[in-house]
Amino acid sequence: MPDIVSVIRHKRDGLELTGAEIDWVIRAFTHDIVADEQMAALAMAIWFRGMTRAETARWTTAMIDSGRRLDFTGLGLPTVDKHSTGGVGDKITLPLAPLVAACGAAVPQLSGRGLGYAGGTLDKLESIPGWRADLGTVEMAEILTDPAIGAVVCAPTEDLAPADRKLYALRDVTGTVESIPLIASSIMSKKIAEGAGALVLDVKVGSGAYMTELGEARELARTMVELGSDEGLPTVALITRMDTPLGRTAGNALEVREAVEVLAGGGPPDVVELTLALAREMLALAGIDGVDPAERLKDGSAMDRWRAMIAAQGGDPDAALPTAAYTETLRADSDGILTGLDAMAVGVAAWRLGAGRERQGQAVQAGAGVELHAKPGEAVRAGQVLATLHTDTPEKIPAALTTLQGGVRISAEASDGGAPAVPARPLVVERISG
Ligand code: URA
Repeated sequence: MPDIVSVIRHKRDGLELTGAEIDWVIRAFTHDIVADEQMAALAMAIWFRGMTRAETARWTTAMIDSGRRLDFTGLGLPTVDKHSTGGVGDKITLPLAPLVAACGAAVPQLSGRGLGYAGGTLDKLESIPGWRADLGTVEMAEILTDPAIGAVVCAPTEDLAPADRKLYALRDVTGTVESIPLIASSIMSKKIAEGAGALVLDVKVGSGAYMTELGEARELARTMVELGSDEGLPTVALITRMDTPLGRTAGNALEVREAVEVLAGGGPPDVVELTLALAREMLALAGIDGVDPAERLKDGSAMDRWRAMIAAQGGDPDAALPTAAYTETLRADSDGILTGLDAMAVGVAAWRLGAGRERQGQAVQAGAGVELHAKPGEAVRAGQVLATLHTDTPEKIPAALTTLQGGVRISAEASDGGAPAVPARPLVVERISG
């Protein structure tokens, strides 16, 4: 039988771990036989040495097998899920899940709460009065098969990839999150265990993403697509830009409001563009053709699904969303073109205002966050309001304002008719399939 010190030494010295070593270490860690400090040492060795494709695949399978796998094959409908690696203002799941359901596929989406500057989908939905994230699998199946709903967004049950739950918490406090094999196996173990029939990944790249360089984002996307294929889960990844927030809001209720605008046929163009791009990929993988998701936004059927989905989880789709008690504005200090509005600065400001949490389990403020009144590429005037900060805790405003200010770039307008100050960059940078 392997022993943990030998496994750590093997990885530290650059050897490839055997399947038996990986299976044992994941099982022993799940059952508290391997101690946290030993697993932290192994995670750090993996951080430095990496893992081969075979090791990463075995690690992922072992984490899936640490719990149970959901199975939606009996629903009689194609099922498809989406996962985003996380970005600022990323509210895409909210319009996307009901939209794809309105086009004929069932969407079982298990989501997370936010930690740090990137918001969590469950935190956003929990700003809707009455909405609850904790459902059992029977309730999930009932919602998915209801012909008026077909989409569910809820929290994973405790028995879904428990090894990852433990390991992710440990990586979070030991500086071992940013490792491609560990991130890929963490995400894919949960997504494969969820039991959807196909998966579309939105891998973010840019200042507000885990991966700031395209090469790293591409490697992460390829690794996850390969892990999906190895497990028989058709998987496609879109690499999308995260240099500036998606849409004009970052914060829980603020983002729900914006998602509802998209479902009503309006909303910010970048949110609509990405929602439709991901919907088209999901429908293609689910084998549904001849349905235009843009039409389903226009004709109100996606909105009908949203309302039914929220109501099925106890929420009131007509209730007023919470608002923060205090607001403050950030104004432009000169005339010119807004050339940069850094995603990380906006995300950290929203987090400081109370939209996010510093530790697992902390409460978040439903109404807190940042509302943007200008986006990169737009002309601005000195004194114009660029952003509104929302919070229930006004003592947080000065630090958030300073952070936000640091993310703003205004360049003097080109008076010679030369190149635009902000070259148009596509939102979807690359598509990676198996
Ligand atoms: N999200 C996850 O679920 N796991 C990681 O390792 C990083 C982001």
